Amino acid sequence: MFNSQRHEEILKVLEEKGSITVEELSKSLKVSPSTIRRDLEEMEGEGLLKRTHGGATRERKERVRGMKIFLDTANVEEIKKAKDFGIIDGVTTNPSSIAREGKSLEALIKEIINIIDGPICVEPVASETEKIVSEAEGLVRLHKNIVIKIPITPEGLKAVRSLSKKGIKTGVTLAFSSSQALLAAKAGATYCFPFMGRLDDIGQEGIDVVRDIVQIYRNYGFGTEVIVASIRNPLQVEKAALSGAGGVTIPFNVLEKLVKHPLTDEGIEKFLSDWKKVPK
Ligand code: E4P
Repeated sequence: MFNSQRHEEILKVLEEKGSITVEELSKSLKVSPSTIRRDLEEMEGEGLLKRTHGGATRERKERVRGMKIFLDTANVEEIKKAKDFGIIDGVTTNPSSIAREGKSLEALIKEIINIIDGPICVEPVASETEKIVSEAEGLVRLHKNIVIKIPITPEGLKAVRSLSKKGIKTGVTLAFSSSQALLAAKAGATYCFPFMGRLDDIGQEGIDVVRDIVQIYRNYGFGTEVIVASIRNPLQVEKAALSGAGGVTIPFNVLEKLVKHPLTDEGIEKFLSDWKKVPK
C-alpha cells in the first residue's frame, strides 16, 4: 500500500471513530508502528489530524487536500496529450465543446472514458427537473466516472438535490455569484464551477467571486469543491490556486502555457551551449 493510500485509510478511520492508536493502525494496515508514526507526523504537518500520546485524533480544521486540475475540452487528441503530462485529474465538457467535435455525445464520452480515469463532467441539455434527472440517469449508466454538470436555475437546483440523494455526483455550472454557489452546496453538489473568465471578460474581478465562495464553503464546512472554470490564462490559474479553490478546469492551450517560462528556455539553451565546452 502506498503512503497516500494509507493516509486515506487513516483519515477514514478518524472520520468514523474520532481517534485511533498507533497500535490499532499498525495492525489494520499491516505496517510497522514506526511507519504509522511517520504517517501521523506527516499528516499532522498537513493539518489533517492531531497526534496524541500513542495515536491521533481528528483535526477539525477544514483543509483542501491537493489541487485538482481538470482539462476543459471534449477534444480527444488534446485529452490524450494532456494525459501524458501525468497531472490531469478529470475532464469537463459542455454542449459547446461537444458540438465542436462533430461526434455523438455517447461516442465521445466512451472515447474520453478510455483515456482518463477520473471524473468526466457532462451536461444534460434538458431544462426541467424531471427531464434533467432522467437525462442524467442515462448518462451515468455509461460509466461510474460520469459527473452531471447542471446550470444553476431553480429547476437545475432541484435536479442536483434529487441526483445527490441518489448518490449521483453533480457539478453546478454557469455559476457567477457566491449566492448561487451557496445554493449549489446546500443542494448537495459535488462540485461548483464558478466561471472566472467570463466575469473577467465583462470587467468584473472573477477571482473576488471565487474567493467569496471558498470562504463561504469554509465557514460552513460544505463538502462541495470549488473548481474554477472558464479559464483563459495561467495568471487566472495562479489566482485560483491562491484562493484555496479545490481546483481549476483549463483548456489545453493554458496547460501548455503553464509549463512555459522564457527564462527556463533561455537557461536550458545556456546550459547546453556551455556543456559543449566540457572536454569529452
Ligand atoms: C467548464 O466547465 C465550462 O463549461 C467552461 O470552463 C466554460 O469556458 P468558457 O467560458 O471559455 O466557454
